[in-house]
Amino acid sequence: MSDLSAAFVRLHARLAPVAFVPEVRLHQADEPIGLWELTEGEFRSSQPPPFWAFAWAGGQALARYLTDHPEVVAGRRVLDLASGSGLVAVAAARAGAAAVRAVEVDERAVAAVALNAEANGVRVDAELGDVLDGDAGDAEVVLAGDVFYSEAMARRMLRFLLRAARSGARVLVGDPGRAFLPRDRFRELTGYDVPVPEALESVRVKHTTVWELDPAPPGAAR
Ligand SMILES: C[S@@+](CC[C@H](N)C(=O)[O-])C[C@H]1O[C@@H](n2cnc3c(N)ncnc32)[C@H](O)[C@@H]1O
Repeated sequence: MSDLSAAFVRLHARLAPVAFVPEVRLHQADEPIGLWELTEGEFRSSQPPPFWAFAWAGGQALARYLTDHPEVVAGRRVLDLASGSGLVAVAAARAGAAAVRAVEVDERAVAAVALNAEANGVRVDAELGDVLDGDAGDAEVVLAGDVFYSEAMARRMLRFLLRAARSGARVLVGDPGRAFLPRDRFRELTGYDVPVPEALESVRVKHTTVWELDPAPPGAAR
């Protein structure tokens, strides 16, 4: 993790329990818009928004599910894609995963994942990079919280997740009804009403589903 990114995370986010998974503490921004403006002001539009500073609804639901059903990941190798703060990765490690790899394209998110793992006393291997055109390696469980928010991301993500499921991995996704989730590919495991920052989502609670990818639903195009 770069020292500059870690310093930025420490300076602009405060360690606090996650609203729907208070067992996990994360570096979170108190006030979303201020941090967003700061990031934009400093680096203009070349810099992604600070996704890492919030526990997104999909990640919160998935982390809640793993915390309440540790057998899903216990003793297994886990990949958390688009990890953001690392909430899902930390929850998987707390639930007893044998190894947790968290992948992110944002350098500050990688720093946040490492700091948040440390703050929760667990080991997560945080990695900077874009693996969506590749495969899930040796992961037995692949997790993705709140990743279907754009068409381009959803298209690449679905292809990656299908490849992982067809190679034998269990693939779980947390999603609060984002526009680009291909629902017909998934079966519902559970749903929760998840508290979310109103400044980000325009509501205080979002109904959020934990889905499992079905690698070959009847009649689906391959
Ligand atoms: C809405 S956030 C979700 C973060 C976290 N999973 C959660 O639920 O709190 C989406 C994250 O996807 C990351 N991302 C976008 N494209 C990616 C890619 N190709 N590979 C890995 N991460 C990516 C962004 O940097 C961002 O942190």
